[in-house]
Amino acid sequence: MFSRQGWVLSLLSAAVLATGMATGTWGVADARAEGDVERGEALAYTCMGCHGIPGYRNAFPTFRVPKLGGQHEQALYLALVEYAERRRSHATMYAQAATFSDQDKRDIAAWFASRGEPRTEGRTGSGPRVARGRDKSQVCAACHGETGISPSPEWPSLAGQHEDYLLHSLRQYQTGERQNAVMAGQVQNLDDDDLRDLAAFYAAQRGLFTTRPD
Ligand code: HEC
Ligand code: HEC
Repeated sequence: MFSRQGWVLSLLSAAVLATGMATGTWGVADARAEGDVERGEALAYTCMGCHGIPGYRNAFPTFRVPKLGGQHEQALYLALVEYAERRRSHATMYAQAATFSDQDKRDIAAWFASRGEPRTEGRTGSGPRVARGRDKSQVCAACHGETGISPSPEWPSLAGQHEDYLLHSLRQYQTGERQNAVMAGQVQNLDDDDLRDLAAFYAAQRGLFTTRPD
C-alpha cells in the first residue's frame, strides 16, 4: 500500500524542484534583459556591410547610412522594434528587423552600445547654417541635449550623425513615413530651411561614430 506521507513528500519535492527550475529560468532572462553582447556581436555581423563602412550610402533616396556607434542602447533597440512594426519604413531594415526575436534585438543593441561612448574630443563644425541651427535647436535641447547628446536612453543622440540622414529623418517625420507622435509635433511648424539648419548643427557636433568590425 502507498504511504500517504510518501506521496506528500514526493509532491513537495517535485514542487521545490519546479520552483527551482522556474527561478533558474527567470534568473537567466533577468541577466540578459539588457542584452547579451557576445550573442549580439554574432547577430550584428551582417549589419557591418552597411553600418560598418564610413559614409556608406543608401541607394534611393540617397543619404548616408546612420552611424550607430555611441548611440544609446535603448534607442537602438527601439529603432529595430519600429522597423519590425513598420512604424519606420525602409525595405532592408524591415527585412533585417522582422527576422529577429525581441531578445535578438536587445542583444544587437547591447553589442553596438558596447563599442564605446560618444566621442566628444576635437573640433566642432561651423558656418552660417550651423549657427542658425544652434539657435533653432533650443527647443530640441530638453530631449536631445545642448549639443545633441541626449540625456535619456530612449531618445536618440544626434551629435555627429550624418547631415543627410538627419535631414531625411526630419522630413520623414513631416510626411508621416516615420511615425512618432513626439517628433511629428516637433517638426510640424518647421519649414525645409529650418530642417536643413538643424541637421547642419547636429551633424557639426562631436558624438556618434561609425562602428567598425574588429
Ligand atoms: C543594406 C544596408 C543595411 C544593412 C545591411 C543594415 N542596415 Fe541598418 N540602416 C540602413 C539604412 C539605410 C538606415 C536608415 C533607414 C531609414 O530609416 O530611412 C538604417 C537604419 C538603422 C537603424 C536606425 C538608426 C537610427 O539612428 O535611428 C538601426 C538601429 C539599424 N539600422 C541597425 C541595423 C542592424 C542591427 C543591422 C543588422 C542586423 C542593419 N541595420 C543592417 C542600412 C542598412
Ligand atoms: C520631447 C522630446 C523631444 C523633443 C523636444 C525633440 N525630440 Fe527629436 N526625438 C525624440 C524622440 C523620442 C525620438 C525618437 C523617435 C522615434 O522613435 O522615431 C526623436 C528622434 C529624432 C530624430 C531621429 C534620430 C535618428 O537617429 O533617427 C531627429 C533627427 C530628431 N529627433 C531631431 C529633433 C529636432 C531637430 C528637434 C527640435 C526641433 C527635436 N528632435 C525635438 C524626442 C524629442
